[in-house]
Amino acid sequence: MAKTKTTFFCQNCGTQYPKWQGQCTACKEWNTIAEEIVQKEEKKSWKSDTSAAKRVSKPLKVKEIDTTEERRFDTRDSELNRVLGGGIVPGSLTLLGGEPGIGKSTLLLQVSLKLPHKTLYVSGEESQKQIKMRAERIQPDSENCYILTETKTQNIFKQIEAIEPDIVIIDSIQTLHTDYIESSPGSISQIRECTSELIKFAKETATPVILIGHITKDGNIAGPKILEHMVDTVLQFEGDRNHVYRILRALKNRFGSTSELGIYEMQGNGLREVINPSEILVSKHDEDLSGTAIAATLEGMRPLMIEIQALVSTAVYGTPQRSSTGYNVKRLNMLLAVLEKRAGFRLGAKDVFLNVTGGISVDDPAIDLAVIAAILSSNEDIAVDRSICFAAEVGLAGEIRPVNRIDQRILEAEKLGFEQILVSKHNKISIKNTAIQVRLAGKIEDVVSELF
Ligand code: TYD
Ligand code: MG
Repeated sequence: MAKTKTTFFCQNCGTQYPKWQGQCTACKEWNTIAEEIVQKEEKKSWKSDTSAAKRVSKPLKVKEIDTTEERRFDTRDSELNRVLGGGIVPGSLTLLGGEPGIGKSTLLLQVSLKLPHKTLYVSGEESQKQIKMRAERIQPDSENCYILTETKTQNIFKQIEAIEPDIVIIDSIQTLHTDYIESSPGSISQIRECTSELIKFAKETATPVILIGHITKDGNIAGPKILEHMVDTVLQFEGDRNHVYRILRALKNRFGSTSELGIYEMQGNGLREVINPSEILVSKHDEDLSGTAIAATLEGMRPLMIEIQALVSTAVYGTPQRSSTGYNVKRLNMLLAVLEKRAGFRLGAKDVFLNVTGGISVDDPAIDLAVIAAILSSNEDIAVDRSICFAAEVGLAGEIRPVNRIDQRILEAEKLGFEQILVSKHNKISIKNTAIQVRLAGKIEDVVSELF
């Protein structure tokens, strides 16, 4: 009897070792190396008839390569198309990652139902009935979408040969297993092997494949970086599960830019594309409220107006609390220190709570000025004029710093009917004759005297 063959894999980076060791020498993580059974039978192609596997590719001159096939699939979803760089490339492998319950299955099922092409949606997580129930919520009538519940790649390929789909969706890669490897589904060697079988299938038949991948608690795609290296495109679906807005972004894209962004709203009947996000993120109320300010931010390439809310109140307990949702709390502390030192506001004994509305998390430093305006407005209990918005970074010396793509931000603010925008006086603004009044500030003190 053949001896069972095992190998040791780092569960973090996927490096292979002949024997166990405490630390992975590649990624320097401790206790991540685990034994997996990799007994391999003789390897076959994804196809049952192996003639395709014998084909040998030969080098071609760049100009000889035929690119006519590279016409992209329109996914009928403008947000997904935008993030992918104009649609799905035939033969490409796309990985969609995201936390559980964020809506990955919903998004891809919705795309499969909308597509006019023949789609195969393979699920290893839900039964056909469950998927049907979900499909009925989203779009009850679809002609070309096939649902398969299967986890063994060989069986999936058998069905693919029978149906010949134009696009294949796998929910999720962590549930798949192949006969050629004996370790359990979700282990590094299984994920790697199943993905490489799918890659071979995708490249040989020019059929695009989309994989759903789970995310671990620290935000990485479960089963290793290796998966991200193997696929062509990595998309991430993120958002706060308790809010309705979801953001789709590309972390890697071999066929397009990674700075595009898609925004969706989760509704009772699936995900709705949000074409003009600024309009919903900025709440409309009639009376002036203190503690709110609007920032003109950029998420990827898209300008987005976001409302910042702050609450400053006298601390009840000894140590004041600083809490922030959607904005880095360290940066909040830094801005509070700047306000104290450079503008003379005594906030040391105050609780400060900050919230970016819509459940969105913002990294763009251009929201600093709006954060400061919201805090001061709450502290003084004077509302910021609702026709003003802000776009500038604040430095440690209390200086108002320029931000990138200022023209785009100004135009978005103008489009939404703002009358004034406060920016850094060092920003180079090339657009002229705007209906919106551009006000310049150099230091925090200028902002304070302009606003209050
Ligand atoms: P799901 O796609 O199952 O998440 P994932 O595959 O990322 O784990 O989405 C689950 C959530 O979406 C669930 O909490 C219910 C919600 N949902 C809606 O609000 N509306 C809908 O039409 C559907 C199908 C789901
Ligand atoms: Mg799911």
